[in-house]
Amino acid sequence: MTEFKRQVLPEEKNAQVAETLQDRLVDLIDLALQLKQAHWCVVGNNFRAVHLQLDEIINDVRLGSDEVAERMSTLGVAPDGRAIQVAEGTSLALMDKEFASAASTVSLVADRLQTTVRGLRESIELLGDLDPISEDLLISMTAGLEKHLWMVQSQEV
Ligand SMILES: [Fe+2]
Repeated sequence: MTEFKRQVLPEEKNAQVAETLQDRLVDLIDLALQLKQAHWCVVGNNFRAVHLQLDEIINDVRLGSDEVAERMSTLGVAPDGRAIQVAEGTSLALMDKEFASAASTVSLVADRLQTTVRGLRESIELLGDLDPISEDLLISMTAGLEKHLWMVQSQEV
């Protein structure tokens, strides 16, 4: 499974780390895609604020997926960000293809951010015993996404 001669981690740990990073990679790619869908389909009051806010979040999510994928490569395991893998492996519920008010967009987006963050926290828990470097990467990423979750769901009140 590992393709480099000089492994950073022992093989058994490496496989477990790569597996959980792959799960997070798929969620992050899907999150960015679904947020773009929401960005295109938001309508009504507060359209502009939500439309623009979504692109800010997408930027961070895309950076995050890139970092996770490159961590896998660093560990010598090829990341799988192919569309079919994302479609089959994502933890996120599929968003309907329809226009949605800013109010309902905010809750659709908050739900998907929450699912993503829950997955990240599960991986952080697991990585604590396996690889502190991957753990640290996910911790800082999760802090940013949780802040986005706050700024999205605070608009529901
Ligand atoms: Fe746009």
